[in-house]
Amino acid sequence: MGKDVIVACDFASAEQVFTFLDKFTDRKPFVKIGMELFYAEGPAIVREIKRRGHKIFLDLKLHDIPNTVKKSMAVLSRLDVDLCNLHAGGTVRMMEAALEGLTRPDGTRPLLIAVTQLTSTDQAAMEEDLLIKEPIDQVVLHYAANAKKAGLDGVVCSPLEAGKVHEVCGDNFLTVTPGVRFADGDIGDQKRVMTPAQAKRIGSDYIVVGRPITAAEDPVAAYNRCVAEFCD
Ligand code: C5P
Repeated sequence: MGKDVIVACDFASAEQVFTFLDKFTDRKPFVKIGMELFYAEGPAIVREIKRRGHKIFLDLKLHDIPNTVKKSMAVLSRLDVDLCNLHAGGTVRMMEAALEGLTRPDGTRPLLIAVTQLTSTDQAAMEEDLLIKEPIDQVVLHYAANAKKAGLDGVVCSPLEAGKVHEVCGDNFLTVTPGVRFADGDIGDQKRVMTPAQAKRIGSDYIVVGRPITAAEDPVAAYNRCVAEFCD
């Protein structure tokens, strides 16, 4: 898969997400379904969005014992999502088990990426709450290397980390980056942001964009602007 814009559909109900997606009559965006929507509507929402012709990133961030993650990934694989994720903090063994569960009998599987440290976790929280004393950027790179070692396809990371991740894990290791804003847009609660054009220059493979598209006056125009800046 090449560079693409993934739209974070952070809505609370199927009705809201369909009202939003109905606006896209031309190019069907790659859609991210997060915990809120999935827990509200269940697997049916994934099937319906897929039926409408969208690719799906199911962002459920699994983290449990290897056997449980393996069996859960097998269920997600049958839902025919294109991309899903887990926490690298679950260890290399958990990530290997996840890949096993995700792989279908015919050998195909959705792409699997890892969350390293959440961007909401800072150095102080990592040291005090998690008792991890190394610098956070090294921890992120170590977790990315673990994901690669387990055979995963990439990581979710800040656009600022994408270049380093590619240096350590190779150009083919995917970097999926949220925290994207237009140069003239609202930052909201994101702290470290980049424009789609900057994310492209720095080597992100996919950008995840929520409110700059979902809350725009003209979401289709905002989406097309992202695509033009990032993909073209
Ligand atoms: O609206 P906004 O563009 O900030 O949405 C970004 C999306 O990416 C949200 O769904 C958010 O949960 C997700 N995300 C993030 N930062 C991370 C991981 C995921 O913003 N580190």
